Amino acid sequence: MIRTSHFPADFTWGVATSAFQIEGASNADGKGPSIWDTFCAAPDNIKDGSDGSVACDHYHRYREDVALIADLGVNAYRFSMAWSRVQPDGKGAWNEAGFDFYDRLLNELAARGIKAHLTLYHWDLPQGLQDDGGWLNRDTAHRFAAYAGEVARRFGNRLEAIATHNEPWCTANLGYGNAQFAPGVADAKQAIQVSHHLLLSHGLAMTAMRAQNTSAKLGIVLNQWTADPATSSQADRDMAELEYARSVQWFMDPIFKGRYPALALRAHGANAPVVHDGDFDVICQPIDFLGCNYYFRSWCSAAVPPLPAPGKQGFTDMGWEIYPQGLTELLLKLKEEYALPPVYITENGMANPDEAGAPDAERIAFVRSHLEALRDAMQQGVDVRGYFLWSLLDNFEWNSGYAKRFGIVHVDYATQQRTPKDSAIWYRDFIASHP
Ligand code: FCB
Repeated sequence: MIRTSHFPADFTWGVATSAFQIEGASNADGKGPSIWDTFCAAPDNIKDGSDGSVACDHYHRYREDVALIADLGVNAYRFSMAWSRVQPDGKGAWNEAGFDFYDRLLNELAARGIKAHLTLYHWDLPQGLQDDGGWLNRDTAHRFAAYAGEVARRFGNRLEAIATHNEPWCTANLGYGNAQFAPGVADAKQAIQVSHHLLLSHGLAMTAMRAQNTSAKLGIVLNQWTADPATSSQADRDMAELEYARSVQWFMDPIFKGRYPALALRAHGANAPVVHDGDFDVICQPIDFLGCNYYFRSWCSAAVPPLPAPGKQGFTDMGWEIYPQGLTELLLKLKEEYALPPVYITENGMANPDEAGAPDAERIAFVRSHLEALRDAMQQGVDVRGYFLWSLLDNFEWNSGYAKRFGIVHVDYATQQRTPKDSAIWYRDFIASHP
């Protein structure tokens, strides 16, 4: 049985959300459109045909939502800022009404003693910048740094942490590699160039924020997994090694080692990114924390058709394999390969087809087993400082729309009624069980 006493007394317990997935109010008070507004408006991009115009209406209900967070007894909240709310076209004037919303949210969190962990970019690029080429345009990295510096100037001392990006792997590969996410491009070469510009923008933003001398800890959030070969065949092992290099090391190596992993670079061949002199000096600079989002492992099978993941502990409503020990393995592997700063698990959780008021025992089991896996990694020396459950609320799950429910609080989208699920009560009691 896992207890909070297995975690340090000053451990950060939190819940996570992102702007586009919960805020709604997509054109309120001067907000500009983002690429996700555009993407949702085009037919067939979102499985249930929905969009983010209302979502959880958090923009208007943030007080109620912060009260929900406080009731959980967590001491931290991870959320993101909608860039186009505070700078409608991503390059022109700042929108004071947009900043005012985050000012009110921060006041509410501070009044309840909840530490604010902000993400600057959780996938909702201002459409104005997309019109100039989006992340394929190197200049977007400089725009992002200007935005980061301004946010740090205004809010840096009221934020516990600022992450530059959330899951740049997704921005690049789902947004530009296979068109599942905004802006809906399917071009392998573009995806790789975009990943370089995202890394560059991270480095430029770090420099811009450091210049503001804020008290916030600065870092980045990456989605990460171990890559396991389906069999012991050479083909499967090679595939797993390459997959790990192309996903995890592709983002970690530039930040921690100042270069791309040779194996992945070779595999990219003519699609390798254009890198300017000095780019790695910008990208490879100390970060105060690494945010790790863990949901599943990568299962690598060279067979045709590929061997399916065993799923001994089941699959979630997303079809993702439940594999908690992958979190231990991942963290130990990262510790071996990199000089890691303090790590936060910035997302972990599961989609489940929950009805309001119905038990979500699967989610409780999921979170518990992942916390056990996390404790195992910590006992083996990985310096993990916090855990953020994804997600506080059922919300807009990107191209799945509202059909997938990740919340520990149920949302009835017709009435905006919030109902804590059993997992919310379990998480609250678990945190409260601290001796
Ligand atoms: C992550 C995203 C988050 C949410 C979860 C389920 O990849 O960062 O916004 O969609 O997956």
